Amino acid sequence: MDIKISPSMLASDYANLEKELDKCKKGKADLIHLDVMDGHFVPNISIGAPVIASMKKVCDIPFDVHLMISKPYDYIEDFVNAGADIISFHTECDSDIEKTIDKIISLGCKAALAVKPGTPIEAVFPYLDKLSMVLVMTVEPGFGGQNFMESVMPKIKTLREKCPALDIQVDGGINADTVTLAGRAGANVFVAGSAIFKSDDPAKTISILKENAKI
Ligand code: DX5
Ligand code: ZN
Repeated sequence: MDIKISPSMLASDYANLEKELDKCKKGKADLIHLDVMDGHFVPNISIGAPVIASMKKVCDIPFDVHLMISKPYDYIEDFVNAGADIISFHTECDSDIEKTIDKIISLGCKAALAVKPGTPIEAVFPYLDKLSMVLVMTVEPGFGGQNFMESVMPKIKTLREKCPALDIQVDGGINADTVTLAGRAGANVFVAGSAIFKSDDPAKTISILKENAKI
């Protein structure tokens, strides 16, 4: 499986987004992870489509948009128009899952489903044939800088056994150590916010994460 690193811009300096994106380019990041929070699905508010559209103008790395919002169906068009290349939304949301996946795909974007730590991985099984990726959260969604939950690893193993070729993404508490644990469990797409942007050399940290994911 291809190992991909997706820096989470949530931990970056929002006053200097272009410079922060340049660090991702320098580190050869595979994706850019953009966390959208509505203050309802999660108790926090982050950025929306207009900010993503501005970032898209200065970055050609594919955008991986993680919707932590209650009604993703209603906003799919906005995020596709803003430049999302892949959109993940949660099985625990209030929108119809199948309709939301179909809408994402019909607009020419890749669809991914995300599960919170407490949600069984079986929740994504009915949709696997349409999904480009599954996001297994390794923290409760809503905030950066939380501790990685190793208890989630069996869910990744189960999914990897069922889908040998699927992109399986992990998000939350990924650093130079936990990336190895998640990689051994079967994940191949790694989101990291604090570990990258709070480090002295974000570009170098991206390559360290990539190396350690293979151990
Ligand atoms: C949390 C977000 C994550 C967050 C990860 O709800 O989905 O993408 O930015 O941050 P770190 O890597 O700091 O745990
Ligand atoms: Zn995220």
